Amino acid sequence: MTVLTAHGLSKVYSSKGNIVCTAINDLDLKIEDGEFTGVMGPSGSGKTTLLHLLAAIDSPTSGSIEINGVDPHKFSDRQLALFRRRELGFIFQDFNLIETLTIKENIILPLVLEGIAPPLIEERLRPFADWLQIEHLLDKRTYEVSGGQKQRTAIARALIHEPSLVLADELTGNLDSKSSKDVMELLASLNERLQATILMVTHDPFSASYCRRIVFIKDGRIFTEIRRGANRQIFFQQILDVLSVLGGNFNDIPFARP
Ligand SMILES: Nc1ncnc2c1ncn2[C@@H]1O[C@H](COP(=O)(O)OP(=O)(O)O)[C@@H](O)[C@H]1O
Ligand SMILES: [Mg+2]
Repeated sequence: MTVLTAHGLSKVYSSKGNIVCTAINDLDLKIEDGEFTGVMGPSGSGKTTLLHLLAAIDSPTSGSIEINGVDPHKFSDRQLALFRRRELGFIFQDFNLIETLTIKENIILPLVLEGIAPPLIEERLRPFADWLQIEHLLDKRTYEVSGGQKQRTAIARALIHEPSLVLADELTGNLDSKSSKDVMELLASLNERLQATILMVTHDPFSASYCRRIVFIKDGRIFTEIRRGANRQIFFQQILDVLSVLGGNFNDIPFARP
């Protein structure tokens, strides 16, 4: 089943009627159920813009998007808020946890907002806390845990309501290489276990090597895509090869090392 279809997607930024920048340029993308896809590209290639269009945070200048058969850009604000809460999960570079809540309260927030009964919430929480190795942290506040533990909390929150699509932007951008590895291993195992559909933007080839497919973008267009075979190390090398052909600037954030 296809979870996401973007067709002829363009986003032009203009100011006072003049085109300033074509950030996304006639881009087509399909994501199938259960896929774990990475989006890579140099700085300014349109990665964040693409993610914002897919999440309906920003509107395309032209083209269409369908997520589970509906175009979120056609919704009213209220419908859109509900759609995002139910159908999407978000993982951000800076975790976006609520500091006044405990780790557990942060994770279960999407279920509480849906009015799900507390015993059912507890039942849903247990396996996630176990898989993400955060059972012992559930009653702690966000400032009492490490960056990697914060991101594992954010992953649990993004997946607990079984969204159609999980969107992540540079989720290892604020983590050291050991925590990045832990987080990516857990995310990859959740993708397999739950058949969760994940789309992550990253500039980091090591994190990207955990995906099953990488879509490379350049100047707002698809440059090429590659799929992983059995071996992650080989995939990592293939990613580096494409990036060297792709050229451009990859920010000043250092790459994590395997
Ligand atoms: N609000 C905006 N107004 C004008 N130009 C923008 C705006 N946001 C992004 N851009 C431009 O769009 C292009 C793509 O940006 P972005 O999606 O942030 O790329 P990436 O995330 O790959 O670094 C860049 O050239 C950027 O300068
Ligand atoms: Mg960006």
